[in-house]
Amino acid sequence: MVVDIDDIQTITVIGAGQMGRGIGAVAALAGYDVYIQDIDEGQLEAAQENIEWSYGKAVEKGAATDEDTAAALDRISFTTDQESAVSESEFVTEAAVEQQGVKEDIFETLDEVAPAEAILATNTSGLNITRLAEVTERPEQVIGTHWFNPPMLMDLVEVIMTEHAPAAVGDTAEDLIDSFGKTPIRCKMDVPSFIVNRLMRPFGEGPAWMVYRGEYSMREIDSAMKYKEGFPMGPFELADYTGAIQLRVEGEQDHLEDDRPLSYDTEVCPMLHQLYDKGRYGKKTDAGYYEYEQRDEPDIPVDAGQGFDTLLVWAPIVNEAAKMVQHGVATPDDIDTGAKLGGNWPQGPLEKADEVGADVILQKLTEVAAKHEDTNKLAETLPCDLLVEKAKTGETFY
Ligand SMILES: NC(=O)c1ccc[n+]([C@@H]2O[C@H](COP(=O)([O-])OP(=O)(O)OC[C@H]3O[C@@H](n4cnc5c(N)ncnc54)[C@H](O)[C@@H]3O)[C@@H](O)[C@H]2O)c1
Repeated sequence: MVVDIDDIQTITVIGAGQMGRGIGAVAALAGYDVYIQDIDEGQLEAAQENIEWSYGKAVEKGAATDEDTAAALDRISFTTDQESAVSESEFVTEAAVEQQGVKEDIFETLDEVAPAEAILATNTSGLNITRLAEVTERPEQVIGTHWFNPPMLMDLVEVIMTEHAPAAVGDTAEDLIDSFGKTPIRCKMDVPSFIVNRLMRPFGEGPAWMVYRGEYSMREIDSAMKYKEGFPMGPFELADYTGAIQLRVEGEQDHLEDDRPLSYDTEVCPMLHQLYDKGRYGKKTDAGYYEYEQRDEPDIPVDAGQGFDTLLVWAPIVNEAAKMVQHGVATPDDIDTGAKLGGNWPQGPLEKADEVGADVILQKLTEVAAKHEDTNKLAETLPCDLLVEKAKTGETFY
């Protein structure tokens, strides 16, 4: 029997870090009893302080009242004991460190101690959820619920299905996310990086190759994407902000060894390796693509990108989005919603395709792909059948 939204009263979050504390805070404010569990007592204390702070901010902004937040705080229990944390839970979300082995151990234990009907979810950013499901005796009740940082402020949650989980389990997760006041989108297959981060990859990697080959400067591309297209940050500024250089280089081997559908079989741009080897991980190390010693924000002139054709960045992203539609990973609407709510993009890639025409996108993609002919290092430049078909027939995605 699949747990229904009406059956859910208690939610457990495993891991009290940046994400776990935020997810717990959202769930408690929505009226659920919440357990937050971590192996580190200090993290639990920090989580409690941080939740109190974020609730204070919510009250300041008029998003909640003092009474709401006080009641929500009363509903949260912080503990190091995993068994008692999950014993009454109908929905468990794991948000521990991003390591497949650690997560598999946690899922094995959760399976033993959580109620038999409980849904077990993971907040992984892209690890193999199918394998997490398969270490349990209830693979049909294991899914991904991928939140965006910070959970209190970001609207989007991706719900990721595996081949083992029936749609009804995803429906319950979506109902739960709705009840938190958040927007769910459905990733119908367990593919590496899910929906939004699959779009983020060509957004970061395509421009990296252009700069690596000396075709354009970072400031030119960042300025164009930010000021001409309306992205909150250009690809290089964003990578420095999120620490993408480190994440991409350290995750490269995992990706190359991944056997899920739509796995990546290409290496990351050598420029990322060069920066990584110098310890330039981004803002947190005071240097990444840009230097941060002197100022908080990189200097990106408003008019530096005037001559840059932004469709060269869009084309591989649109192609990736079309590929996801073609393979039944997600609907156009969910992909575009993911880009807009998860990345704060001004437009979704398939809306962009319909605006400029699939034929124009295909032509730009061919231009980008020609540059990769010798290396074939950016998989997103190989046109997918659906994009080619739309370009030929003139059909739109919507
Ligand atoms: N930070 C982000 O922007 C972001 C966004 C989306 C998803 N995620 C994913 O969410 C998860 C958590 O990320 P984070 O940024 O909160 O990490 P974090 O490092 O801030 O927190 C991880 C927490 O897990 C705890 N932990 C480690 N092993 C544990 C165990 N066996 N049992 C219980 N707790 C354990 C640690 O003590 C730590 O408090 C990761 O899978 C990450 O990929 C992160």
